[in-house]
Amino acid sequence: MSTSRIEKVAILGGGVIGSSWATNFIWYGVSVTVYDIDENCLKVAQDRITGNLKYLAQKGIITSEKMIEAISLITYTADIEDAVSDVQFIQEAGPEQYETKRALLADCDQYAPSDAVFATSSSGLLITEIAKYSKIPERCIGAHPYNPPHLIPLVEIGKGEKTSEETARKTYDFYRSLGKEPVILQKEALGFIANRLSVALYREAIDLVVKGVCSVEDIDKAVSYGPGLRYALMGPNLIYQLGGGSYGIQGILHHIGPSVEFWWADMADWKKWPEGWGEKAQKGVNEAMANRPPEQGRTPEEIIKWRDDKLLELLKILGKL
Ligand SMILES: NC(=O)c1ccc[n+]([C@@H]2O[C@H](COP(=O)([O-])OP(=O)(O)OC[C@H]3O[C@@H](n4cnc5c(N)ncnc54)[C@H](O)[C@@H]3O)[C@@H](O)[C@H]2O)c1
Repeated sequence: MSTSRIEKVAILGGGVIGSSWATNFIWYGVSVTVYDIDENCLKVAQDRITGNLKYLAQKGIITSEKMIEAISLITYTADIEDAVSDVQFIQEAGPEQYETKRALLADCDQYAPSDAVFATSSSGLLITEIAKYSKIPERCIGAHPYNPPHLIPLVEIGKGEKTSEETARKTYDFYRSLGKEPVILQKEALGFIANRLSVALYREAIDLVVKGVCSVEDIDKAVSYGPGLRYALMGPNLIYQLGGGSYGIQGILHHIGPSVEFWWADMADWKKWPEGWGEKAQKGVNEAMANRPPEQGRTPEEIIKWRDDKLLELLKILGKL
């Protein structure tokens, strides 16, 4: 497999994630063809991508010249051969099903250059299973973004049994060149790293509400006005290192370690969503949204706008913009 620069990418699936990836790639000067089976979805993708770039220009993140240049780098097609025949990298962002992802990979085996990387955005399917029937399984790799990928730096790179080291290295280097913060999993894990951590936290959050310890609204307050502020800056290991003072993380283990074992013994370890949680959560979230300060938005549209404005500020603070 060649290590030549990646200048042209195909995105398979122009939905929420495909549109955001496309924004990221053209923002960084990489040509993109977005493929979707649904012409109407292609139209929506075009509106989304153009809207994302206009927003970045309006926020002063890119110049209007850069916005025009980026928009000129993208084409849309409902023909997969047309999309992948001359690319070095394929970002798959179709539905989260093995059959669809395998079918897209089979099309790429047929129409794409044999050395083009096939990176799936799958949220948690196994790469080995996706690549199971491929003629070129060594080019298949997991590249799981966080929504919206053009603003969140993390990409979790997951190898399947047959993924080559060259594919992993090429994928890692490509995302680095786009300003991402990729991490490579050393072995396959359902849900990868960040989603496993998210749902571990969420299980305990649900349990606290179900046990009547606190409300849905207070869970979200406790996370975003407490540890969440630090999590934007550093992960749990470094947080505990600093919390342990001159003794570091080992000091924390010594200090609160024995208590934590009591907490763990008392914490949720169930494996199925509790009955009725969806309705309870929805009611709680509706109340919390109605209680938000108006300047932080109360409808989903207003909150998304507020979130993206604040994300840009955070990314600037973190030196990512
Ligand atoms: N939404 C998220 O927060 C998120 C985050 C990380 C990863 N992902 C993953 O990204 C992938 C895409 O998710 P999404 O949220 O963008 O979904 P989506 O439903 O918004 O978009 C999927 C797109 O794929 C198109 N499509 C359907 N069948 C197709 C086919 N055979 N060939 C080409 N296109 C086809 C649809 O028309 C649609 O436009 C999934 O694997 C998902 O698990 C999603």
